Amino acid sequence: MRPVVPWVFRATLLSFLLLSTAVLLFATARNARTVRSLAETSLESTAQALSASAENALRVGSGRTDGAVREILSDRVVAYALIAAPDGKILFHTNPMRIGRSLGEEGLADWLRSGRPFGRRVTLGTGLPAYEFDYVLHRPDGRAELLRLVLHTAPADRLLDGISRMWLAVSGMLVLLWAVGIALERVLTRHLRMQAEADRNERLALIGRMTATLAHEIRNALGAVKGYTQWVDEKTALSDPRKQGLSIALKGTERIESLVNELLLFAREETFSSAPVDLPPLLESLVREEAAGWPGQVAVDSVAGVRVLAEPDRLRRILANGVRNAIQAMGDTGVLRIGANRAGKRVRIFIEDSGPGIPETERPRLFTPFHTTKPDGTGLGLAYAKKVVEAMKGRIDLRNREDGSGAVFEILLPKG
Ligand SMILES: Nc1ncnc2c1ncn2[C@@H]1O[C@H](COP(=O)(O)OP(=O)(O)OP(=O)(O)O)[C@@H](O)[C@H]1O
Ligand SMILES: [Mg+2]
Repeated sequence: MRPVVPWVFRATLLSFLLLSTAVLLFATARNARTVRSLAETSLESTAQALSASAENALRVGSGRTDGAVREILSDRVVAYALIAAPDGKILFHTNPMRIGRSLGEEGLADWLRSGRPFGRRVTLGTGLPAYEFDYVLHRPDGRAELLRLVLHTAPADRLLDGISRMWLAVSGMLVLLWAVGIALERVLTRHLRMQAEADRNERLALIGRMTATLAHEIRNALGAVKGYTQWVDEKTALSDPRKQGLSIALKGTERIESLVNELLLFAREETFSSAPVDLPPLLESLVREEAAGWPGQVAVDSVAGVRVLAEPDRLRRILANGVRNAIQAMGDTGVLRIGANRAGKRVRIFIEDSGPGIPETERPRLFTPFHTTKPDGTGLGLAYAKKVVEAMKGRIDLRNREDGSGAVFEILLPKG
């Protein structure tokens, strides 16, 4: 049984995680947008300030282009700058070689008449990113010329690098947040499962103690009934018609006695002292005893010297029930195969039969106490076997054979 973490907890945890994720993503996206626009604004305002200073210097210098202007435009952020006449002729360039050439741009005169400062990102011939800013330069004599500033974007781009780092940090935080959330859910599931198992074990232990007390009392009372019936039976002559009734009563007491004994065995809290058990001789003697007189075919198929760590008496009792179950399933004909072989760190003991196998609907109930399909069965054989095998750190299974020709009872126990 797998306990389920209350859905309210899961829903709350999931909502919290989704909400935190949404808030973090939204806040980061907003910050990133702000930083991006800050970077653009800083480029634009630097370009604007430099352009205004250059224009001022030109006014003060009464039209002289070089000198002060060159000094202003030699700022470290400026990649290059130029001043062009409305016809496109370059009047000033930070690279003096370009002075006198034509800018080769159409519509410059029109733009100068109505133009507003205009900035955009470009890529330089060197492949570096830059910011190009066009500014209408008003000369003291009323002429308008183009002042083009091309700025390095590295300082502004450093701000943009911060955005990548911010996204990286946020992604890390989100991964951590979800990991913690999932781990929390897992831990809680495990805790609940362990608690449910502890509750179940406690309940089973209580039922076991009650059953043991009850079975003990029944056995004591039954001893007196059986003894008295036997005594009366012995005193009764064979010809007496009451003899038959007494025999039925005796059979009844014997049946109750065996049931109670099995029950006591199952309900008892046991301690185990495992020791290495040599399997081939055990299986041989088991088959000799349990299959004696059975008319079917018997095969023992063990790897020589294979040993398990188990308690011999209990292991024998479990396997004896397995052999009886197989024979009972087959009736008077069939093939019984019993054996043991190594399986990694464990040893596999199997009892195969050629009976009708187990219907799918039966499988989940096979190891449940008192589940039996036999009129005189107790249904405790497999339940007891499971209890003991698990206590001996092993595994037990009863399933249909792969070729569908009967059942296989299998026990895996640690190597001895
Ligand atoms: N080899 C098998 N083939 C088919 N069904 C089986 C086989 N072994 C067990 N079963 C089924 O599992 C049930 C439970 O077996 P278990 O040994 O626990 O009790 P039981 O044999 O019915 O009673 P008891 O062991 O007290 O005689 C059986 O009644 C039977 O229906
Ligand atoms: Mg049985």
